[in-house]
Amino acid sequence: MTRTLLLTGGCGFIGSNFVRFVLANRPDWRIINLDVLSYSGNPENLADLEGDPRYRFVKGDICDMDTVAPLMEEADGVVHMAAESHVDRSIMDSKPFVVSNVLGTQTLLDAARRAKGGKGAGRFVLVSTDEVYGSLPLERPDLRFTEETPLQPNSPYAASKTGADLLARAAFHTFGMDVVTTRCSNNFGPYQFPEKVIPLFVTNLMENQQVPLYGDGKNVRDWIHVDDHCEGVLTVLEKGRAGEVYNIGGDNERSNLELTHAILDIMGKGKDMIRPVQDRLGHDRRYAIDASKMANELGWRPSRSAWPDALESTVRWYVDNRSWWQRVKSGAYREYYAKQYGAKG
Ligand SMILES: NC(=O)c1ccc[n+]([C@@H]2O[C@H](COP(=O)([O-])OP(=O)(O)OC[C@H]3O[C@@H](n4cnc5c(N)ncnc54)[C@H](O)[C@@H]3O)[C@@H](O)[C@H]2O)c1
Repeated sequence: MTRTLLLTGGCGFIGSNFVRFVLANRPDWRIINLDVLSYSGNPENLADLEGDPRYRFVKGDICDMDTVAPLMEEADGVVHMAAESHVDRSIMDSKPFVVSNVLGTQTLLDAARRAKGGKGAGRFVLVSTDEVYGSLPLERPDLRFTEETPLQPNSPYAASKTGADLLARAAFHTFGMDVVTTRCSNNFGPYQFPEKVIPLFVTNLMENQQVPLYGDGKNVRDWIHVDDHCEGVLTVLEKGRAGEVYNIGGDNERSNLELTHAILDIMGKGKDMIRPVQDRLGHDRRYAIDASKMANELGWRPSRSAWPDALESTVRWYVDNRSWWQRVKSGAYREYYAKQYGAKG
């Protein structure tokens, strides 16, 4: 049976990788990609799919019920990824985060539930984040986030994602909607907007510019390759249990300093290229994911995230795709970078 999946945020980093992943792995599926094309949405990421009968792009806002409702009539499954996604931007201006991440999610949930005369638009997967759990202390390497860990978001971004996460939970409990939530760790891979640390550092180094490292560099993140995340979301869409939350992680914890040194090594650059900058406000110390529920219940494990190979191939993608990121970096991003780091990027 042909399946029609409504994906939101498909022109962003994870969304565009997800479109490719699904079209490659589910030959009889179609995807409708709803994306407003905010600063991080780039239709060029999927330009080669133009004219593909299995792919359709709709430019529109997830907050706009008139846009969303008719698309839900066509869908028999929803993967909701659209979001304002960058912590630093949420510190500068939180309102767009509340609007897109909270209001947008509720609009989609309402439309999905009411579709097809109340039968609904099929399973709804909310792509949430490990940042809803808050921060772990560096002194307790034994601790990791499980799905039972209390939600204690610390940034406006994380708080707005927690709002979405809880609204999805409420839709299951109040209306019996078939909602499943994923909480994933930090992604890396091709097509990531170069305000995020890996593409930012690689592209800065290619332009012979220093890389701005926050604080003492000891903050730890669990890095997962975007294709592992995409496979995890697809697994949850097909096999997850309604009303459940699934952690997705790369089992690949690295401090920012370790990450920075690894990138410098791959690019043949010295430590003099590091420029320490004032720490991010409220900077979470450590994220670490326990993804054993995904492994034990759904048989999913990360298989593409191990370093050095996965990091090297990602660095190589940015080296080989200079024109892609140069176009992205020459846009609205420049103004933001100057405000954030006090220098041109
Ligand atoms: N990047 C990560 O490491 C990571 C980790 C865990 C979870 N997530 C989640 O995954 C999702 C995708 O993240 P990403 O890194 O690809 O982000 P991104 O910023 O690259 O992409 C977000 C996309 O959403 C679109 N969008 C934003 N507001 C919209 C609106 N109101 N209506 C329609 N489209 C809108 C943007 O145009 C963009 O294409 C987000 O929900 C994010 O919270 C990301």
